[in-house]
Amino acid sequence: MCGIVGYIGKTNALHVIIPSLQRLEYRGYDSAGIAVIKDGEIRLAKKKGKISELISFVSRIDFPTFSRVGIGHTRWATHGPPSDNNAHPHLECSGKIAVVHNGIIENFSELRKKLEKNHKFTSETDTEVIAHLIEDALKEVGSFEKAFEFAVKQLEGTFAVVSIFSGEPDRILCARYKAPLVIGLWDENGNLVSSDIPSLLIFTKKIIPLSDGEIAIVKENSVEIKKDGFRVERQPIEVPWDAQQAEKSGFKHFMLKEIYEQPHVVVDTTAEFLSRWDELNLGEFQKIIITGCGTSYHAGLLGKLWIEHIAKIPVEVDYASELRYKDYIQKNSLFIAISQSGETADTLEAVRRAKEEGLKVVSLVNVLGSTLSRESDFVLHTNAGPEIGVAATKTFLSQITVLYLLAVFLSGQSRKSKMLYDIQKVPEKIEEVLALSDFIYEISEDVSKLKNALYLGRWISYPVVMEGALKLKEISYIHAEPYPAGEMKHGPIALVSPSTLSVFVAPRDRVFKKTISNLHEVSARHGKVILITTKNTDVKDVWKKIEIPDVEEFLSPFLTVPVLQLLAYHTATILGHDVDQPRNLAKSVTVE
Ligand code: M6R
Repeated sequence: MCGIVGYIGKTNALHVIIPSLQRLEYRGYDSAGIAVIKDGEIRLAKKKGKISELISFVSRIDFPTFSRVGIGHTRWATHGPPSDNNAHPHLECSGKIAVVHNGIIENFSELRKKLEKNHKFTSETDTEVIAHLIEDALKEVGSFEKAFEFAVKQLEGTFAVVSIFSGEPDRILCARYKAPLVIGLWDENGNLVSSDIPSLLIFTKKIIPLSDGEIAIVKENSVEIKKDGFRVERQPIEVPWDAQQAEKSGFKHFMLKEIYEQPHVVVDTTAEFLSRWDELNLGEFQKIIITGCGTSYHAGLLGKLWIEHIAKIPVEVDYASELRYKDYIQKNSLFIAISQSGETADTLEAVRRAKEEGLKVVSLVNVLGSTLSRESDFVLHTNAGPEIGVAATKTFLSQITVLYLLAVFLSGQSRKSKMLYDIQKVPEKIEEVLALSDFIYEISEDVSKLKNALYLGRWISYPVVMEGALKLKEISYIHAEPYPAGEMKHGPIALVSPSTLSVFVAPRDRVFKKTISNLHEVSARHGKVILITTKNTDVKDVWKKIEIPDVEEFLSPFLTVPVLQLLAYHTATILGHDVDQPRNLAKSVTVE
């Protein structure tokens, strides 16, 4: 996915932009480029391929070794194939204005058709129209800022746009509409711009996020934000992450590192929640509506189960992409939106729909300063640290930690201390599960040869198998279908055969025996069964058995999910897939 970086200040722009771009590499890209202003001219270098190729290209050509302002980009092709020409930044005809862009300009063909009469296009991208629009407007209005604003007003679609102009080298201009963009404040060294907070962390933790429709004028010593010509005041926020957290730290993949961070994540998220426990004023409501997408939606399903069982409050969980179209949303409801990134377009639209109905919105967000965190009435920070792997792992555990604690909080006094005690025992049990990694690897060698899997669980293990099946699909590309174990006999049992894997999640809990009966229905038909269960359960007729430590029945997802994450991770790596950048997927999905 595309990434944007910009810098203006005292330091060498090249030495800021390249390392920041390298920290965007995990997003996946096919070309990279940089433009700086030197002696009143834009100097440009761009290359198909990896950033290392751009670096080697820059060292071979006559590229300025020092400049104080520049922009850089990693491109993931949408309009036009990966090539040097299609790589960003793009220039207009005179070569004085450079533009980088994330997102999609939906009206680019109409704009291009008009512009082609007077402009020479050198790429197939939608982005290039922006450079030519600024060029035209600059001739009319004379000021870079006004021309930029005018050009941006003509764009339809989603975009984060960043531009420099050799005639006004004291500024970088930025605009955002439905694609993330933040400004990093690097004290006396200047200011940065990025599409992604982790790329800034080696320089600063102080950021100002931009909102939709805003334009920012970023100079060495100042940042001015405007909307519709009016100044917007916004205080910077301190990101609670450090640069080390966004590195692989010796792990082969970010995903593996993030799986191993989970014991700590549960501790940190619990501490964060308990520190805000007293401020939590959710007001009066009769029902809770939870929304989210993908993994965050699965966390919501567990949240429903806990809140209904522990706090006895009715909960509805809807996919954000579906909730938006509901005619009826019950007014006296509390609305909870769950999102790792806080930038998921579907979730944001669902929140806006809830707000139209006057509902109070509480969000569970991992990225502070994200759009969702700014549009919510109350934020419960999931505090998992930066998650770089595209497949969500540790943020799922942090989300379910918050939801479990929320259920306890909403339940009143009687069981609180016991339940808080129970969750504090969870991190050491997750450590025990992670110690099974080598054993799970061996099982994965066989799983990697299969083409289809059913993931089956009842009650609390049903959202777990949904999450486990999603993980397997996302990174190993093996088809996996989650089903409530009791529903299997109503249809999917027809798929059971020696070549179809059935992964049963059945910890020792109130539904254990019933799930095991379903398991026997599969093994009796020569199905290949992996059983994830509690130690010392007596179940025969399984192909492989993975045993988790004994745990209070409400907390089993904290142990069964890491098993499924490791199963997916090892299977995908055995198949040779890039688990951190699975095909077709983005870390934050800003399109609807
Ligand atoms: O950032 P969000 O939590 O809102 O993202 C929601 C989904 O896009 C995300 O969980 C997606 O399903 C992941 N690829 C799961 O691994």
